[in-house]
Amino acid sequence: MTGLFITFEGTEGSGKSTQIALLAQRLRRLGYPVCVLREPGGTLIGEEIRHTLKHSRDNDLMTPEAELLLMNASRAQLVREVIQPALASGQIVLCDRFHDSTVAYQGYGRQLDLDLVRTVIDFAVGDTRPRHTLLFVVPPELSEERRRARQAVMAFVRDRFEEADRSFFERVEQGYAAVAAAEPERIQILDATDSVDAISQRVWQIVTPLLPPVPPGGAGRSDGFQLMI
Ligand code: TMP
Repeated sequence: MTGLFITFEGTEGSGKSTQIALLAQRLRRLGYPVCVLREPGGTLIGEEIRHTLKHSRDNDLMTPEAELLLMNASRAQLVREVIQPALASGQIVLCDRFHDSTVAYQGYGRQLDLDLVRTVIDFAVGDTRPRHTLLFVVPPELSEERRRARQAVMAFVRDRFEEADRSFFERVEQGYAAVAAAEPERIQILDATDSVDAISQRVWQIVTPLLPPVPPGGAGRSDGFQLMI
């Protein structure tokens, strides 16, 4: 039995996490076993790496190279500890960010060599690749506004990425655009300025044709891993 692996991408404030939660709820109601994950993180080891990358008070000196490797250390763990077994048992795996984030953030944002970035990703993920990817796009000004609003509410939680300047996030957007242009069959772009309801309907239209039949006795089955915090 093989499951279905879908990833969700976009810059900060694109609303993808809300859409993942809505999709997971809808799928579970239909009886699908769903596994919701996030990157970096999704395993105990990955969540420690996430803390080091994002929130630690001691990460000021982190180099882009260390950042690339830590992202992919978290990913290598997640792929083998959670994603592969979940797919093998027929679950639908919804992951908030995956390797496209690395190309966009470390490749374009931090301007690391793109071939090198892809080599590291290949090592981390092997053959475990998303069947489909939804890329949520918001204009840079709106993303910045939402980032600021989040920082104001979460002022007590440090986030090293959200401290980056506007040109970094512009490069990240360019990176996503390049990735989407290179793989139009896998990556579907969604306008994240629409209403939550409209986007959720669009997500459903995209996902429905990919779904396997509901497993027998599906409703009420375990929800699988749920490490989103
Ligand atoms: P988020 O879970 O709130 O989106 O935070 C994750 C941050 O990590 C976000 O700023 C994007 C960044 N990131 C990378 O730079 N490279 C990656 O490969 C991944 C998965 C995330």
